[in-house]
Amino acid sequence: MIGRLNHVAIAVPDLEAAAALYRDTLGAKVGTPQDEPDHGVTVIFIELPNTKIELLYPLGDDSPINKFLQKNPSGGIHHICYEVDDIIAARDKLKASGARVLGTGEPKIGAHGKPVLFLHPKDFTGTLVELEQV
Ligand code: CO
Repeated sequence: MIGRLNHVAIAVPDLEAAAALYRDTLGAKVGTPQDEPDHGVTVIFIELPNTKIELLYPLGDDSPINKFLQKNPSGGIHHICYEVDDIIAARDKLKASGARVLGTGEPKIGAHGKPVLFLHPKDFTGTLVELEQV
């Protein structure tokens, strides 16, 4: 059901410093910051030959990233995103097998303008999983 790894998301306490690290030290192709008010984050995408890295920084006081950064003050891997062909079919299949979908269970539009859903980390070996319909 899942396809390619779309991206790995890393929450960071300093977005500019993290962008500079990937651009200058690691020599990667680093994009520009995008605010995602629906998700409470500012993101920067880094293009790698085979996948992307999504740098996440809190946007607003009730950002879901705030708590994560309190627990992980130097940052850390926040979620991984797998591609699916049909997000509704994937959601229904996962729900039928007992997995929990976060939020309302309805897809939101993600950072690439495509529908996304998040799955409960306790149901996926301790990893927050994002599904993106491509
Ligand atoms: Co993501």
